[in-house]
Amino acid sequence: MTLKSRSKIADLLKGGVVGAEVTAKGWVRTRRGNKNVAFIALNDGSTIHNIQVVADVPTFGDDFLKDVNTGACIKVVGQLVESPGAQQPVEIQAKSIDIYGKADAATYPLQKKGHSLEFLREIAHLRPRTNTFGAVLRIRHAMAYAIHKFYNDKGFYYLHTPIVTASDAEGAGAMFRVTTLDMENPPRNENGKVDFTEDFFGKETNLTVSGQLEGELGALALSEIYTFGPTFRAENSNTPRHLAEFWMIEPEMAFYDIEDNMDLAEEFLKYLTSYALEHCKDDLEFLNKMWDKELIERLNFVVTNKFVRLSYTDAIDILAKADQKWEFPVFWGADLQSEHERYLVEKHFKKPVILTDYPKDIKAFYMKQNDDGKTVRAMDVLFPKIGEIIGGSQREENLEALTTRMAEMGVPQDEMWWYIDTRKFGSAPHSGFGLGFERLLLFVTGMSNIRDVIPFPRTPNNCEF
Ligand code: 4AD
Ligand code: MG
Repeated sequence: MTLKSRSKIADLLKGGVVGAEVTAKGWVRTRRGNKNVAFIALNDGSTIHNIQVVADVPTFGDDFLKDVNTGACIKVVGQLVESPGAQQPVEIQAKSIDIYGKADAATYPLQKKGHSLEFLREIAHLRPRTNTFGAVLRIRHAMAYAIHKFYNDKGFYYLHTPIVTASDAEGAGAMFRVTTLDMENPPRNENGKVDFTEDFFGKETNLTVSGQLEGELGALALSEIYTFGPTFRAENSNTPRHLAEFWMIEPEMAFYDIEDNMDLAEEFLKYLTSYALEHCKDDLEFLNKMWDKELIERLNFVVTNKFVRLSYTDAIDILAKADQKWEFPVFWGADLQSEHERYLVEKHFKKPVILTDYPKDIKAFYMKQNDDGKTVRAMDVLFPKIGEIIGGSQREENLEALTTRMAEMGVPQDEMWWYIDTRKFGSAPHSGFGLGFERLLLFVTGMSNIRDVIPFPRTPNNCEF
């Protein structure tokens, strides 16, 4: 789109009219040149590519141009011309330059190129101005859009599940308390315990770990829904794959069994990967060159290969026979660690893997129980470089089986009366899963630390701004 007052650099580079007078606005990446001519690389975030602005030094003056330096924000008006350089199709011959905001060369943190990702995490307020984070953030946007498009095209409804919740959904992790009580001097009951009946909601409340349980309420009325929102887990896991605040996409479908659920998960992941390959080409090429030389190959591989499906029990057999030293021991009943998941995907099958039918004792109370009395209809999708990217299951729709399992696992049934009600009134077979949005982005961008695919990461001891 061409605003009267500004063209986006992406549009100028793609389809700008050569010869026309144009206005570009953005941040200076570099300025180089000689005493006759200055070359300014300008970027406005609309593309990974910069537009070259050519300024006549005698006309603008050295004094003025020295402030048109790395980090400064400027407005340029000039003629769009074919570029004699091979680097770019067109460039702007500057007629006028206005400086909106200077950036002092001595103190601007992004003065030099090639900072480490660790350093950039410490200046998360400025890192969107780098090529890498520009690319990641544009891809993040494209994936969010593609997720809504995928479900909308399939007739799923976007259901907004609550962020503040009174239920500890599934024991998916430690929760963050939400309270307005006076921390210095909270009201206490006779037993000396904090009296939450005096709290804002009249009970204990937390930030949600998952929208699933409320998602099920939606699916048992609208048939097919999805949630897409922030979720919070207060685990102290300082790994490259865990955040305390992350986004999750959770479709929930009435009348789907576990096979239908797996089919949807596979189709969904392939759709998103293809969408990125088609719509984020320049950014992917940049990330492929800079950070992960196998990125685009891996994305194509996932799109074109059928995911392997096998049971947890078969996976344990493979892992037990593997010629490999494990940090965490392998035995039937053990929770799989990322080293096991990645072995199956990267070494054994060399394909994405969907594992099903996990031991019931390592999975949540709501998963549908198999007839063997030992396993549940869980399904986890495992991806190269990531390990678990999706976790889901068919749900237990039978009232008695559900409440018996809740009792066994100590899940409070009085607090969950609303969930149990759905199994009393018009219960239906149903299934769903959760895709970690940042895990998806790790895969699609090839970045290796989850802190680098979310604009403002929240991890233990890290909550700037
Ligand atoms: O496997 P999880 O815990 O499953 C659930 O929460 C279910 N209620 C989902 C459902 O069936 N509707 O989490 C789902 C996914 C994981 O596979 C992983 O991709 C991501 O969420 N995830 C995290 N991502 C970043 N940081 C964390 N701490 C994460 N924990 C889980
Ligand atoms: Mg899981």
